[in-house]
Amino acid sequence: METPSGKTILSGIQPSGTLHIGNYLGALKQWVELQKDNTTYYCIVDLHAVTVPYNPKVFSERVLDAVAMYLACGVDPDKSVIFIQSNVSAHSELAWLLGTMTPFGELSRMTQFKDKAAKQKTSTSLGLFAYPVLMAADILLYKPDLVPVGEDQTQHVELTRNIAQRFNNTFGEVFTLPNAYIPKSTARIMSLTDASRKMSKSDGEKTYVALSDSPDIIRKKIMSAVTETEPVFSFEKSGPAVQNLLAIYEAMTNKDSATIEQELSGKGYKEFKEMLAEAVIEKVRPIREQYELLRKDDTELRIVLGRGAQRASQIANTTLHLVKEKMGLL
Ligand code: AMP
Ligand code: TRP
Repeated sequence: METPSGKTILSGIQPSGTLHIGNYLGALKQWVELQKDNTTYYCIVDLHAVTVPYNPKVFSERVLDAVAMYLACGVDPDKSVIFIQSNVSAHSELAWLLGTMTPFGELSRMTQFKDKAAKQKTSTSLGLFAYPVLMAADILLYKPDLVPVGEDQTQHVELTRNIAQRFNNTFGEVFTLPNAYIPKSTARIMSLTDASRKMSKSDGEKTYVALSDSPDIIRKKIMSAVTETEPVFSFEKSGPAVQNLLAIYEAMTNKDSATIEQELSGKGYKEFKEMLAEAVIEKVRPIREQYELLRKDDTELRIVLGRGAQRASQIANTTLHLVKEKMGLL
């Protein structure tokens, strides 16, 4: 897939703890590539993170962790607007307005809502139910062409298009209809211990490689990843566990699939896993080192965020103003 140019791009990640290589390959790697030749907005969606139980005492630290990790992965504040969602009040305001044109039934069908609601012990909040409307507001304020996310978010981007279309039809053209931008091979990195489940922080330490893991830990986790019975290295014909490891290897080394299949022919799983572990370690090492450096200096991170919020607010407020005008608000 060729990297687009000349487009407007927006994406967001929740500041909910450790980022893993699934987040990196499914989202952050694309963010970095896209910022070269596009106008890019990247936000930390803190208002989304508070829709599930969280610890307010350490929350601001988690937000700074997330910013430091974006920067460590190569998101560049001179090329991209990096900001915190709650610092730009237009997001919440537009979410309310868009909520008035979002059918209850459509929101009830959102898979992520159903999953998260099922996990909650107490009754589900309006905030969790309205989460996709806030995401639509995040996106539509910046009129992006593309929204780089993992495959699990396509349903939310579709909903965003529906809301935008409905607004444009009812009140007049304001919004651009965005498309999800999802590179195929890394759209869904699977768990290291169960290839039928998405790699996720909530499934336990052994199932993912965190961007903050040390080389020793990475090696241990990869060496104990599940494989198939027969060592077949084929992007088409291997079983799901090995296909997943191949996809990670491909993305970490930037080699093409034919080269990799040739490189691995005749090798066993142990040898492959050692190669994979080294590739992951080499990719993660500079990210972790940079992260530790950046995380020491809160002031610098806060300056980046202040600048980002200012630039984002200008764009967001212009769109919000137009929306209010079209809706007939005085
Ligand atoms: P989350 O951590 O679930 O908020 O996800 C942050 C971003 O990473 C979103 O764009 C997700 O689609 C993406 N993502 C999360 N897990 C994976 C995964 N296992 N494979 C690919 N992308 C993922
Ligand atoms: N819902 C997204 C997730 O769970 C996070 C998100 C919020 C987002 N607002 C966004 C992603 C806007 C892209 C664009 O990962």
